Amino acid sequence: MKNISVIGAGTMGNGIAHVFAQNGFPVQLIDVSAPQLEKALATIAKNLDRQVSKETITEAAKQATLSNLTTTTSIEQGVKNADLVVEAATEQTELKINIFKQADQFAPEDAILATNTSSISITRIAAATKRPGQVIGMHFMNPVPIMKLVEIINGYATRPAVTDTIVTLSKQLGKTPCVVNDYPGFIANRILMPMINEAIYSLFEGVAGVSAIDTVMKLGMAHPMGPLQLADFIGLDVCLSILRVLHDGFGNPKYAPCPLLVNMVMAGKLGAKSGEGFYTYVAGSKELVVSEQFKRSR
Ligand SMILES: NC(=O)c1ccc[n+]([C@@H]2O[C@H](COP(=O)([O-])OP(=O)(O)OC[C@H]3O[C@@H](n4cnc5c(N)ncnc54)[C@H](O)[C@@H]3O)[C@@H](O)[C@H]2O)c1
Repeated sequence: MKNISVIGAGTMGNGIAHVFAQNGFPVQLIDVSAPQLEKALATIAKNLDRQVSKETITEAAKQATLSNLTTTTSIEQGVKNADLVVEAATEQTELKINIFKQADQFAPEDAILATNTSSISITRIAAATKRPGQVIGMHFMNPVPIMKLVEIINGYATRPAVTDTIVTLSKQLGKTPCVVNDYPGFIANRILMPMINEAIYSLFEGVAGVSAIDTVMKLGMAHPMGPLQLADFIGLDVCLSILRVLHDGFGNPKYAPCPLLVNMVMAGKLGAKSGEGFYTYVAGSKELVVSEQFKRSR
């Protein structure tokens, strides 16, 4: 494993590129949007500055990391020397299938193609390529430079040697890999999303208010943040779409999204990124303020 190509330079793509580059891998960062590539490089530089100021890396390591990064808007150019392609583009099945077809066409024959998808079937994506044995899920967590876990997902056809290579590589990045199989939600979201949905149901049914629900889970279960705050952080639209994948994939009503979640997404209340979800968000403020809508609920 030497040359890494990362497709998609958004929240996850810039973090994945950062971690590979910091561990000595030359990285080609690819996005359809040139401004997005510039923004990603600026974000990586800012995050590296923070690491330097906290003395977790040296100024020289920061410069070495930046010099490992190149950007392009062309998948053909960006993957032509890749040993590993990690796709972290927008979570849409057709879009990812299209990217994988291009990566399959232009990447070297022995390259591994990985996806960072949160919920789309690895088996389905792999079936769109001529190398399904070399397609695998590599699910990093947000923020990538900080979170230790990589959930590695074997598709139906993923070859054991490919899984071994990705496990070894994840360890080289200082991460802890966990290997799981390809069923809806894998492990992380199959367990997390029903918990978030249950928290929203508890609010919807008036069992408790926003602060009480989050405080019980923070102080009672030692979770670093409550499920409603976490849902706001992930994005309520993302939570809804993953619950729908679980509901459709298993055909089990226990995964049906809470009607309150559906309403909030329809109203455009998507959590931190839209300024309001279960809490309201003011730029520059870290104070946790329950949204007006839920202030009177107990
Ligand atoms: N955000 C999270 O917390 C999180 C956590 C784990 C996994 N994921 C998964 O990671 C992936 C990316 O999520 P994100 O939050 O970084 O999204 P994002 O919206 O921040 O970034 C997506 C990027 O993909 C780019 N893109 C779209 N179409 C493209 C194409 N055809 N070719 C190249 N680039 C293209 C967009 O321009 C954008 O920069 C998704 O599959 C998501 O499910 C997200």
